[in-house]
Amino acid sequence: MKFTVITILPELIEPALAAGVVGRAREAGVITVETVNPRDFTTDRHRTVDDTPYGGGPGMVMKAEPLLAAIATGARGTESAAAHDVPQRLGPAHRILMTPAGVPLTQARVRELSGLPHVVLVCGRYEGIDERVIELAIDEQLSIGDYVLSGGELAALVLIDAVARFVPGVLGEATSVDDESHSAGLLEYPQYTRPLKLTVESLEQTVEPRKPGDAPGDPSGSSDPVVHEVPAILTSGNHAAIAAWRRRQAIERTAQRRPDLFARFRPTPADRKLLPPPLRARAHLALVHHPVVDRTGAVITTALTNFDIHDLARSSLTYGLAGYHIVTPITSQRDKAAHIAKLWIDDAQGEHRARALRLVRTAASIEAVIEALTAEHGIAPMVVATSARASSFPEIPRRSPSALFAEASASSAPLLILLGTGWGLAESLIPSVSHMLAPIEGASEWNHLSVRSAGAVLLDRLFGGGSAG
Ligand code: 6GU
Repeated sequence: MKFTVITILPELIEPALAAGVVGRAREAGVITVETVNPRDFTTDRHRTVDDTPYGGGPGMVMKAEPLLAAIATGARGTESAAAHDVPQRLGPAHRILMTPAGVPLTQARVRELSGLPHVVLVCGRYEGIDERVIELAIDEQLSIGDYVLSGGELAALVLIDAVARFVPGVLGEATSVDDESHSAGLLEYPQYTRPLKLTVESLEQTVEPRKPGDAPGDPSGSSDPVVHEVPAILTSGNHAAIAAWRRRQAIERTAQRRPDLFARFRPTPADRKLLPPPLRARAHLALVHHPVVDRTGAVITTALTNFDIHDLARSSLTYGLAGYHIVTPITSQRDKAAHIAKLWIDDAQGEHRARALRLVRTAASIEAVIEALTAEHGIAPMVVATSARASSFPEIPRRSPSALFAEASASSAPLLILLGTGWGLAESLIPSVSHMLAPIEGASEWNHLSVRSAGAVLLDRLFGGGSAG
């Protein structure tokens, strides 16, 4: 495979590709890299490649003519001293502009690019390049992440390294590219090697190298040596157990660090045996009538509504939840909720709705719900508050639905989502709450969803669209 880098800084490219896996692949002739410098296609005395932007504004823009000439030459692929290594007829080159305004590069695209015979990588410098170059000579625009580099060269190097690893003959083992982070949509599991016990006398001494005069085990490191052991399972010799442990680690890491990848992850039947039950099957909704606040901020108890009992029960069953709790300290209100649910459950004609209303449970307080879930699941629930206002519960960590889904999926604890009636949950609940879902933002400045609508939207964001494992 051949890479041609169009750059006014060729000296940035060559040294970075001289060593390591890519360096050896070049020596072996499996890949070739050449550079073409737009400056060699200028006609003025100063070899000018940039100019001020039409319309004004800061910075300089790369001129079209030298860049177009360099791309045409690079794409033809006849300049290289190493050209005899590569078949002359490479076919049309694929021309990529490296730019932070491009489509983010993914491992899937990297793999596809490795199937092309010749890729031309155009590196912008200055504020950008004349747009007509893109229209006339660029097939694809790629970015390597949401940050800005001073030029496309480092991005081109990243692309070459990632693509080269897929070119046959570049990596030793054929399996090693498939086994790792991203290829399978999961991050890689943790790795360890000798020694089995790593002894660190104190963190400072590891960070600051010992000075020549210092005695080993200097008494200034007053703390006892800390021994860091390799997880016992890896030395157990039980290969099936090791594979299961690694798979579980990979899934948990992905859930913790990359909710976006985790949302797309589909567990296999074997994964399901390793993992806690799907989150929805251990998720509960609580409709809180006390403690909530009124419009003045005073703590009150609201009355039940028939709509909220029905509609949130139906939403709960639709998204596969394990329970729906009506929370009020008023005994007659709890009796009424139980009565309403029972009327429908007992209705011979109403089986359809009865299934939803069977999820309804009543409780005198949130603490009582937490206690019941702890007893049922053998582990205390992760309690999540919701609010329409971004300012409420300021100390509680905020989570997007996808981040909360990933985090809660990786744990085996049940999930309890609190929905406030009235003007929202009272701050006295803070000690019971571990996380807060970010408020639902509508699309206008008027934002007053009913609690049953907000509940449905949140359930869909958490569990809808196939995001639930
Ligand atoms: Cl491809 N180029 C530049 N200049 N900055 C970037 C990038 C590319 N990808 C992320 N940042």
